[in-house]
Amino acid sequence: MAKSKKNYIDLGKKGRLNKNNKLNSLTGKEWIKFTKSWFIHRPARRNNREILHPAKFPESLVKEFIEFFTRENEWVLDPFLGSGSTLLAAGETNRNAVGVELTKKFFKIANDRLKEKNCKSNILSLQGDSKELSTILKKNKLNEIKFDYVITSPPYWNQLERNNLRQKNRSEKDLATKYSVNKKDIGNIKNYEKFIEEQAKIFDEVFECTKEDGYLTIITNNVYYKSKLFPLAFDTAISLTKRGDKSWVLKDEKIWLQDDKPLIALGVNNAWVSNRHHQYCLIFRKEK
Ligand SMILES: C[S@@+](CC[C@H](N)C(=O)[O-])C[C@H]1O[C@@H](n2cnc3c(N)ncnc32)[C@H](O)[C@@H]1O
Repeated sequence: MAKSKKNYIDLGKKGRLNKNNKLNSLTGKEWIKFTKSWFIHRPARRNNREILHPAKFPESLVKEFIEFFTRENEWVLDPFLGSGSTLLAAGETNRNAVGVELTKKFFKIANDRLKEKNCKSNILSLQGDSKELSTILKKNKLNEIKFDYVITSPPYWNQLERNNLRQKNRSEKDLATKYSVNKKDIGNIKNYEKFIEEQAKIFDEVFECTKEDGYLTIITNNVYYKSKLFPLAFDTAISLTKRGDKSWVLKDEKIWLQDDKPLIALGVNNAWVSNRHHQYCLIFRKEK
């Protein structure tokens, strides 16, 4: 049979898969589609167990990022695992993955959710403080791994503490309105500047176990508190680029639009208060 000289595989409507693609297994058409600077994700309704976690992100969103930034069998890390969404998305896409969660009850939810899936890849959830990520990985004999990609969503500073409508509804249903009372939970840091610094320290640890040229995506947001906007997403972006020899290179932002949230009357006839229906997916890379 004559050898094809083509450097691509034609996948019909999906587009062409370039054999020299250095990053992923997407066709050119799929690649271009994902590079749009915003996307809409409407998370499926959470079941009784998933709702126990106050702030999970949709697996569909994580899956799209994982498919863009890795190939099958590569390694993904989430240092703020929560209810385990990243591990589930990694399992579904045949990537190996490790997740670390501080709070036992969320760690348990993540494990229970994983047990129901028949993941063929290596999926490992660990309980601990990600400030000690390298120690945790070493203890579990995972310190040889250099992660190809990291995707995560840290606590949005003190956002869960506020008595907004969502939190009120959760309290009335006896659902958790904060992650924990643990001092190591960075969501319990009161001072904004201290939060930015402690969060950055965790990403120093992440830097150490990420491969050269590996990407990191952080899903976060600016937060409105005491009548002013704290630019948490922007300060997160800046802070990680100023970490000396552990500095990440900021590559972009992709905006997650949430057009399924109801509009609430905020500040009407009085002052500007926005219905904040978007979040930031910050994209960094570890470069020399
Ligand atoms: C925004 S949530 C992550 C939600 C997750 N993406 C999901 O879909 O379920 C942040 C998580 O970080 C955890 N956390 C806070 N401080 C931590 C720390 N120092 N180390 C590890 N996990 C921490 C919280 O318990 C919480 O579950």
